[in-house]
Amino acid sequence: MARRRTVGEELHWAAEQLRQGSLESARYEAELIVAHVLQRARHELYISAHELVTTADHAQIQALVERRCRGEPLQYLLGDTEFHGCYLRLTPAVFIPRPETEELVELILARSSNPPANLLDLGTGSGAISIALARAWPKSSIVAVDISSEALALARENAMRNGVAERISFLRSDWFSAISGEFDLIVANPPYVRTEYLERAPRELHYEPRIALDGGPEGLDALAQIIRESPRHLRPGGALYLEIGSDQGSRVRELLKHTHAFTEIEIGKDLAGHERFARAVRARAEDVSLGTGLRAAVCDS
Ligand SMILES: C[S@@+](CC[C@H](N)C(=O)[O-])C[C@H]1O[C@@H](n2cnc3c(N)ncnc32)[C@H](O)[C@@H]1O
Repeated sequence: MARRRTVGEELHWAAEQLRQGSLESARYEAELIVAHVLQRARHELYISAHELVTTADHAQIQALVERRCRGEPLQYLLGDTEFHGCYLRLTPAVFIPRPETEELVELILARSSNPPANLLDLGTGSGAISIALARAWPKSSIVAVDISSEALALARENAMRNGVAERISFLRSDWFSAISGEFDLIVANPPYVRTEYLERAPRELHYEPRIALDGGPEGLDALAQIIRESPRHLRPGGALYLEIGSDQGSRVRELLKHTHAFTEIEIGKDLAGHERFARAVRARAEDVSLGTGLRAAVCDS
């Protein structure tokens, strides 16, 4: 029978396997996997480095390391992730929240002089954006929509875990189709990857739901629809925030201008220096700076 390994040996073995699997943060990921299986905090592994690992735990660690080496995202293997200080459960039914979207949340918080009374989160996925904003704004109420019922069920569970479920209504909707009324703020991180790019994308991307990623031939299908339809659901003076692809800034600006319903159109960069966010404010009909065409469009919409 094989000799049982200590926690320290198990860590070393897992890191080596992940390194051979060409994973950049092999040691860190090994720590997360071993800590997950042993149900310890990561820092506790070092205190227990000489303890023996059971055969069952070793088998589980080995299985997770093998799946990770085949390209399965770590967040799906561990079943959770952290987003803007919130712990979220994750399954392959939902998109893995990205650091850029935490930046979007930061941008929204920084640019909102007053918390909005109500806001709409389009394509909520795991609930990441809604939950982070609900925690930051304890008096705001939120409508979070997704076309995926599985995503909505998980988002609701995550909202409960983070103590904000009573202020978020989860609704199945194809973008605005089931939405009525107006909001002070609309946010969306829609699918914006070009279909053609998805075919040759890194292997990890293939584990995420295609509906969360595929933005059509130019990656702009969902963005264009949301931009077109949002003026009808934004209160004058309310803001629209979008996450966009790094090469989509000028097209998104054009799409926003084309509605004749927005002012203060801005494209913002992420920490890596890529264009990543769009912000626009729903024009007020009485805005004297508006041209007559814009004034008419605002009144008609
Ligand atoms: C890129 S993910 C963003 C998830 C989450 N907001 C985040 O930032 O982590 C896009 C989300 O849009 C949803 N979605 C795709 N098409 C949709 C549609 N037609 N109507 C509503 N939601 C849609 C997907 O199910 C997915 O959850």
